[in-house]
Amino acid sequence: MSTQDELKKQTGYRAVDDYVRSGMVVGLGTGSTAYYAVERLGEKLKSGELTDIVAIPTSIRTKEQAESLGIPLVTLDTHSKLDVAIDGADNVDPGFNLVKGGGGALLREKMVELAADTFIVIVDESKLCDGLGPGFPIPVEITPFCHEHTIRVISDLPSCAGCKPVLRMGSSSNNKCDGDEIAVTDNGNYIVDLHFTGNIKNVPKMAADLKRVCGVVDHGIFSGMTSAVICAGNEGVTVTTP
Ligand code: A5P
Repeated sequence: MSTQDELKKQTGYRAVDDYVRSGMVVGLGTGSTAYYAVERLGEKLKSGELTDIVAIPTSIRTKEQAESLGIPLVTLDTHSKLDVAIDGADNVDPGFNLVKGGGGALLREKMVELAADTFIVIVDESKLCDGLGPGFPIPVEITPFCHEHTIRVISDLPSCAGCKPVLRMGSSSNNKCDGDEIAVTDNGNYIVDLHFTGNIKNVPKMAADLKRVCGVVDHGIFSGMTSAVICAGNEGVTVTTP
């Protein structure tokens, strides 16, 4: 296992150990860090250390992992309130604003994590940044219908000035935008990644402007949602709260 994977495992395991208790409804994130939280939850259910848990996955990938571990699954349709959700992030700024969606699961992640009483973000220290923008492109999920038009409308937003929009190609879980075919999300939509060279000046304004564009389903800025960030680095694991 690489050092970075070891850090991801530490943060994922710590989140389950510290925040999941028997009887809870748990949101399961998506990505290579959330993978370890799901693994830990499966382990603790199997050993009987945790009982009476139901979980809501945020992607087909996570659903399949959870099913393979025997984690009982439900949906938001039957359980609108979660006790805790645990997920990774692509970038975390000092104000606990997140960029998510590098793995293409931003819509289901946002729906599930907004419904959670406690939202625990698990990252290795490479994800921490001074400001959103240059560190990781902002993923925006858009409808396939007239997507080129929607991308033009997004580019013309003053709050997105200077961004370079790139339609994601290949797998939706690969923000490198390579591959010959347009990436399609679990919801049948496309993703445009907004590349910025400098820090985004007004993150809340940009988030609100994007949300108002007809054709945009949702975006990967998660603001005001984080309850705690568990960050693993070479010096150990830290837990910070807003
Ligand atoms: C999935 O769409 C994303 O939001 C991921 O949660 C995020 O990209 C972090 O993924 P990694 O843990 O794989 O870096």
